[in-house]
Amino acid sequence: MYLKPILPFVVLPFLVSALPQPLRTATIPLNKRSSLRNADGTVDLDAVHAHISRVEWKIQRGFEAYGENAGVEFPQTRPQVAKRVSGSIPLIDDSNDRWYGSILVGTLPSLYTVDFDTGSSDLFLPGPECGSTCGGHTLYSPNASSTSKDLGRTFSLSYGDGSTVSGEQYSDSVQIAGYTATSQTLGVANQYSSSFTKSQFPPDGLMGMAFPILSVYGANPVFQTLVSEGVLPEPVFAFKLASSGSELCIGGTNPSLYQGSFTYTPVTFAAYWQINIDSLNANNAQIIGGVSGIIDTGTTLIVANTSNVNQFYSALNGTDVGGGSYTLPCDSMPSISITLGGTSFTMSPDTFNIGAYDSTGEACVGAVSANDGIGDFWVLGDAFLRNVYTVFDVGNSRVGYAQLA
Ligand SMILES: *[C@@H]1O[C@H](CO)[C@@H](O)[C@H](O)[C@H]1NC(C)=O
Ligand SMILES: *[C@@H]1O[C@H](CO)[C@@H](O)[C@H](O)[C@H]1NC(C)=O
Ligand SMILES: *[C@@H]1O[C@H](CO)[C@@H](O)[C@H](O)[C@H]1NC(C)=O
Repeated sequence: MYLKPILPFVVLPFLVSALPQPLRTATIPLNKRSSLRNADGTVDLDAVHAHISRVEWKIQRGFEAYGENAGVEFPQTRPQVAKRVSGSIPLIDDSNDRWYGSILVGTLPSLYTVDFDTGSSDLFLPGPECGSTCGGHTLYSPNASSTSKDLGRTFSLSYGDGSTVSGEQYSDSVQIAGYTATSQTLGVANQYSSSFTKSQFPPDGLMGMAFPILSVYGANPVFQTLVSEGVLPEPVFAFKLASSGSELCIGGTNPSLYQGSFTYTPVTFAAYWQINIDSLNANNAQIIGGVSGIIDTGTTLIVANTSNVNQFYSALNGTDVGGGSYTLPCDSMPSISITLGGTSFTMSPDTFNIGAYDSTGEACVGAVSANDGIGDFWVLGDAFLRNVYTVFDVGNSRVGYAQLA
C-alpha cells in the first residue's frame, strides 16, 4: 500500500542538469536518449553485440561473487563461457541507453551521477588517482570527506573489453533522494576501463541495486544499507524507464506514474532480482513458457540463451544474423507480450523492434537477443521495462509491475 507520511516517497530525477537539484521531490522531464542506432537510423550491430557481451560479463561476475560470498556455486546450469577472440568485441559505446541520476557522497557532500543497475550490487566512483580514462568525470576524493574511511581492501571488476575497474574500498555516507546511508562501502577506482570514459559512459560511477550476496565487496548495497538503517518509509524502490518522465523513486512508488494495481512475482532466488516468467508470447500465442528471468535495469535488451532464443524466433520465421541478433520482416513485426504473475504486458512496437537491419528497411532487428554466457535465465532489460512501471520490493522479496499512467 502507498503510505502517506510527511514524506511518502522521494523521487530522484534522471538526466539531471549539472546543478544540484533540490533533493527531496525534484522531478525533471527525461529526454529520450537515442538507442543502438547508426546515424542513418539502421541498427548499429557492433554496438548491440558489445552491449550483449557486457551483459554476459556482468552476469558472470555476479555468479563469481555469489560463489565467493555463499561458498557454493550459483544454482543454475553452468553457463558456457562464449569463445572470446581478443579484439573481436568492438569497444563501442552503449551509454545511450543508460539511466542515471545523482547521489551525494561524503562530508561535506559532493554530487556524483551514477548508473542505476538492478543487475549488480556494488557502488563505485572514480577516485583522485584515476588516470586519463576518468577525465571529465567528477572524482570522489576520500581525503576531502571527514566521514570517509579506508577499508584497506582493493576491488576489481572485469568488463567485456578485457580491462577492469579497480581500486580501493572505502566507506562513507551516501545520500540518495534525501536519504542517507552511513558507513556505506564504495569502490574508489584508480583505474577505469576505456568503456567508462566520459564520452562512452556519461555518469561518473555505477550503483548496483541487486541483493548483497552478489556484492564483489561482500558488503551491503546502498539500498540495503538504507533498509537496515531504518530510514525509509517502505523498503521498496520503483522505476519508470520510458521515453519521457523517467525516474527512480526511493522508499515508495509514485502513484502519478502508473495506473491500476501491481501484479507481483515473488523473487525466486534473491541474488539478482530473479522471478518466474509465465510465458513469452507473439500475437497472443505463447512461444516460450515457464522460464526463469531476472529484472535488470542495467541491460538494454532482452537476452537469453541461444536454444531458447532460437525457439523464440523459429516460431516467428526470424533470421539469425549472427552475434546473437535476429531479424524479422519490418512490415510484419509481431506483437510481443510477456506474461508475469498471470498478467500479460505488451511490448510497444518501438521497444521490441530496435531498428532496420540495413538501408533497404526490409528486415528489422528484434530486441530479444542470444548469449550463452548467461546460463538459463532470461535477462529482462529496458526493452521490456520501458513498457511498465516496476517496483522492487525488498521487504516482501517480490517485483511488481503496473501499466504506465
Ligand atoms: C590522502 O591522504 C593520504 C594520507 O594522508 C595521503 O597519503 C594521500 O596521498 C592523500 N591522497 C590524495 C589524493 O591527496
Ligand atoms: C512461418 O512460415 C510458415 C511456412 O512458410 C508459415 O506457415 C507460417 O505462417 C509463418 N509464420 C509466421 C509467424 O510468419
Ligand atoms: C536455456 O534456457 C532454458 C530455459 O531457461 C533452459 O531450460 C535450458 O537448460 C538452457 N539451455 C542451456 C544450454 O543453457
